[in-house]
Order: sequence, then structure tokens, then C-alpha cells
Amino acid sequence: MGNIIKKICCIGAGYVGGPTMAVIAEKCPEIEVYVVDMNAERIKKWNDDDLSKLPVFEPGLSEVISKCRNKNLFFTTELKKNLASSDMVFISVNTPTKTRGVGAGQASDLKWIEASARQIAEYAQGHTIVIEKSTLPVKTAQTIKKILMEANQDNSPLKNNLKSFSILSNPEFLAEGTAISDLKNPDRVLIGGEDDKAINALISIYKKWVNKEKIITTDLWSSELSKLVANAFLAQRISSINSISALCEKTGADIKDVSIATGTDKRIGKYFLNAGPGFGGSCFKKDISNLVYICNYYGLAEVSSYWQKVIDINSWQKRRISKIIIEKLFNTLSGKKISVLGFSFKANTNDTRESPSIDICRDLMEEGANISIYDPKVKESQVSAALNIDTFNNSLGYKNFKFASSLNDCMKDSYAVIVLTEWEEFAHLDWDQIYSMMIKPAWIFDTRSIVDKAKVDKAGFNFWRIGS
Ligand code: NAD
Ligand code: UGA
Repeated sequence: MGNIIKKICCIGAGYVGGPTMAVIAEKCPEIEVYVVDMNAERIKKWNDDDLSKLPVFEPGLSEVISKCRNKNLFFTTELKKNLASSDMVFISVNTPTKTRGVGAGQASDLKWIEASARQIAEYAQGHTIVIEKSTLPVKTAQTIKKILMEANQDNSPLKNNLKSFSILSNPEFLAEGTAISDLKNPDRVLIGGEDDKAINALISIYKKWVNKEKIITTDLWSSELSKLVANAFLAQRISSINSISALCEKTGADIKDVSIATGTDKRIGKYFLNAGPGFGGSCFKKDISNLVYICNYYGLAEVSSYWQKVIDINSWQKRRISKIIIEKLFNTLSGKKISVLGFSFKANTNDTRESPSIDICRDLMEEGANISIYDPKVKESQVSAALNIDTFNNSLGYKNFKFASSLNDCMKDSYAVIVLTEWEEFAHLDWDQIYSMMIKPAWIFDTRSIVDKAKVDKAGFNFWRIGS
């Protein structure tokens, strides 16, 4: 039997910490779950009575929050007290790519992980199970362990507090936009560690709703590395299909048919074969870059350059789309209004991190286009920040971006509509009406293959779709 867990503290109330802890709280009503973040503004939003103001948009999330919040699920900035009284602590903080110093642009920045470990070392009491939920370079548990173990040494100011720790790796595999269903029905739960008692304590939590056969246990390093590898394999499929989308455009083959024909082989599988404007999101590029860095570190140059290509193709795909748009619009975008539909990196999330829309919009702005952006869930402040609009001036020296409050406002008097995110509502637009308010020749560029070609042909549009 594992320890009985009465109270959990999670450091980091982001896209992972918030939804993950909400589902644990829902499935384990006997456990008190405290989600702590140093960002007071974010915590305020998690506690807002108006559930449309939650900092994370995820289908099904607000229902879980309204069921558990302030019953056994609490969002707070109070770290010290909650660390001291928890049996189990999840570290779910950000691990972005380093922007400076050794490994800049590739290695993960572990400063938030180290800070969390130091806080746990300082404030935890008694025995605490510490769980890496963040995605981490292989062997990070060693660093965390070292920091935690030092907490009991003689030279520590805390030498009178008896404390001990078990460290587990429990990477998260949820995808944004489907986080709640992924958490409630995961393909697998992965737990890496050495301490059977701690592993069993964590298993006893997941067992409340996940079949035992889906719970995989490994050593710490295999668990940490498996998370990076899973993301690398997923991203590799997207770069593979995107590379073939370009070949389809040259040869007259259709990427949608090629995807189906290829993916129906059960050894290949049908998922993650949708060609698009390139993968976005906070993790794929970061995690593959980290893998590339680790391979280089261990002297595996060929392995490293193999995975680097997945990132290279992704950058190339974004740039390729920008170039096609420019070329189709007579090689000049100067002063032309261009409508961009979708700014989140995929549908059903308000997250814009690494969204392909960012690079494509910047390319078009640089060409002098007046960009008008519409997204059903992303806020103007997010778009401005992502485009770095405060400092952005195109080569002509002006800012040429507008955030549209409605679809009509976005598309009126524009020369082209570019569908960059596959929001359901973009698949059901009234193209006849839209055509009537655009400048002719009017173009649609569908990077997500969701627009009905027959309808836009009938309306009179020029139409370009990825991979056809
Ligand atoms: P995020 O940036 O949305 O959230 C991280 C939060 O941690 C922030 O709110 C930040 O203020 C807080 N934080 C950082 N250091 C802190 C500290 N010392 N004390 C208190 N709060 C602190 O990040 P995220 O998207 O939730 O990702 C978290 C981790 O999970 C990353 O390692 C990521 O790779 C991994 N992951 C993310 C996803 C995803 O879909 N976003 C999926 C699987 C895994
Ligand atoms: C991804 C993984 O799917 C999760 O398993 C993982 O936990 C997570 O990263 C993480 O570690 O952060 P996420 O980035 O949220 O999840 O979303 P995905 O559904 O994987 O989409 C990533 C990007 O790939 C999006 O821009 C999406 O539009 C694009 N994509 C996805 C395609 O272009 N084609 C596809 O067929 C699938």
C-alpha cells in the first residue's frame, strides 16, 4: 500500500496545472487540492465568479471548476502554508527554451524548476512526494533530488526540520483543446521513479478513474525521456505530411487523399496526418529543440540533425505559405487589407504560443499588408503581445495591424481571407455574402482544409488550399 494522500499542492496554475488538478479534484473528492501560482493576476482569474474569465479556455473545464472550486479545489498565491501541509507536490511550472547563455535557443530554461525545488526544500514538512509534471530534460530529477536532499544537511538553516522526499516523474500528455477529455480518458499514465511506496501513492490517485493496465511505471530517466520522444514523434508526423503537401501542390495529387490512403495502414495510423500551416503550441518546438540539444551534448550529431529537420521543415512550411500568398496577390501586398481568420495555434484553445499565425502575419505585415485578425477566443492584448506590436514597424515604418471584433469587420474591403486556425465556425461561413463585401479578385487561402471548395467556387472566389 502507498501513503494515504490527503492534500496535494501544485506549483503552477497554467494550461497544465489548472486543468490537471481540476480533474484530480473532481475524481478524488476526499483529497484537498491547492493550485498555487506566483502570478496573482492569473490566480484572480481562476477564482473569478464569471467562468468565461478563467485564464485557460478548454471545452469542459468550466464545468469541472464550478463543481469543485472552493470545495476541494483551491487556487491561491499562498505557497508556504500549502507546501508545509501537503503530502504530495506537483511541479507544473513553465520550462521554455533558454533565450540566452549556454544552450540558448535549444536547451530548456530550468530556472522555474529550480526555484520550485528550492521552495519545496524550504517549506515542505515531514515526508513529501514531489512529482515532476512539467516536461523536462532527461536527468532533471537528479537536480531536483540534489536540491531537496540538501535541505536536511547540517549547513542548512532548516536543519531542525525533519523532512524527507520521494521524487517521481509523471509527464503530462494532454493536448490543448481536448485537455479535459484527455485527462479523463488518457491513453496512458506514465510514472517514473524508484520508491515503490511513492509510486503506489500516485497510482492510487489515478486508479480512481484510469484502468490499471493504462498506468505504465518505469525508471525516472525513461519517463522523462519518453515525454520528449512522444512529442518529437507527433511533430515529426506533421512535418512529414507538410513536406508532402508541397509535393502535392506541384504534382496535382491531393494531400487529403494521400493522408487517408497512407493513414489507413494500421501500422501508420490515421491521426496527426493533417497538413497545415505548421505546428504551433508551446511545446513541440521547445521539446524537440531540447532533444536536439541533449543529443548534441552526448555527441550524437546524426541523431540531433535528424530531429532538427522536423523543426526546419516546420519553419519552411510557414514561410512557404507566406510566399504563396504574396505571389498570388500579384507580388505586392502594399496597402492591401488581408483578413486573417484564427490566431490561436489550434482550435478550441485561447493559447497563441508559437502559433503559425504569428510568423505568417508578421511576414505579411512586413510586405506592407494591412492585417485584420479575428479569433473567437483570443484577446486583442494577446495578439498585440504575440506580434510584438509595440516595437513592430514594417519596413515602411508603420504598424499595420487591426484586431477585428466581428467577422464582418474583419473581412469587409479585404483582398484575401487566410484561414489559419480550424475553428468550427470558419467551416460554415456565408461565402456569397463575404464575397460581396470584398475587393476583387477576391482570394481565400485555406491552410487547414476546412473551407467547402464548391461553395467558394460558386461564390466567385479564387481559392488556394494546402496540398492541392
Ligand atoms: P504555463 O506557462 O501556462 O504555466 C506555468 C505557471 O507556473 C505560470 O502561471 C507561472 O507563473 C507559474 N510558476 C512558475 N514558477 C513558479 C513558482 N516558482 N511558483 C509559483 N508559480 C510558478 O505553462 P504550461 O503550458 O502549463 O506548461 C507547464 C509545463 O507542462 C511545461 O513544462 C510544459 O512543457 C508541460 N506541458 C504542457 C502542455 C500544454 O499543453 N501546455 C502539455 C503537456 C506538458
Ligand atoms: C501536444 C501533444 O499532442 C500532447 O500530447 C502534449 O502533451 C503537448 O503537446 C505538450 O507536451 O505540450 P498540443 O501542442 O496542445 O499538444 O496540441 P496538438 O494537438 O498536438 O497540436 C500541436 C500543433 O500541431 C497545432 O498547431 C496543430 O494545429 C498542429 N497539428 C496537429 C497539425 O498541423 N496537424 C495535425 O494532424 C495535428
